[in-house]
Amino acid sequence: MKKIEVDLVRTKVYNLLKEMILNHELKLGEKLNVRELSEKLGISFTPVRDALLQLATEGLVKVVPRVGFFVTDVDERFIRETIETRIMMEVFCLENYFERIASSEELLKIKEEIENVESSLKRDLFDDADERLHKLFIKASGNELIISLYEKIWDRIDLVRHLNERYIVSNREHKELIESILRGDKEDAVEKLKKHLKNVEEETIRNLYTYEKG
Ligand code: NI
Repeated sequence: MKKIEVDLVRTKVYNLLKEMILNHELKLGEKLNVRELSEKLGISFTPVRDALLQLATEGLVKVVPRVGFFVTDVDERFIRETIETRIMMEVFCLENYFERIASSEELLKIKEEIENVESSLKRDLFDDADERLHKLFIKASGNELIISLYEKIWDRIDLVRHLNERYIVSNREHKELIESILRGDKEDAVEKLKKHLKNVEEETIRNLYTYEKG
């Protein structure tokens, strides 16, 4: 194969495996058999191994020397650390860049999307609105370092957020949060964001105990 083809296969396998982990098709803690995966995908051993190594650097896969690859396991601590970091970054940005967020067109578009979730009850629409809203707070900072640090932990956030099924409630919390922002009530908006993230944390931890691991 030419180099460009090899790169394409590698990227495809990487994206596919990442998606399977993030939507929990491959379960938390599951052992990943490289040979089995490559047979299943109908490709050779190497791109699968490369993709897993890349996912390991991003924290979605764990490498245990002489044993093999595993999907990262999530425990209560993993969830608490993720949410604490989110509160630190998102609340800081909402407080310090409140005016920019309040006047952004993106906020109005997200509000519309949230209303679509209410009427359609589509989880993937919710996921999209959720990602856009939380990232809007971060992007409003215009601080490249904050933005790249948040991007770096996004996969981890994504893994955790698919552990909970409270999306209808979360959607309502997002709506109320946006309404506070649009009213210009910064203090209330900050409280609502903190409360929303704490609620997500509690619900996710509860669900972790009924999750069937791989
Ligand atoms: Ni949210």
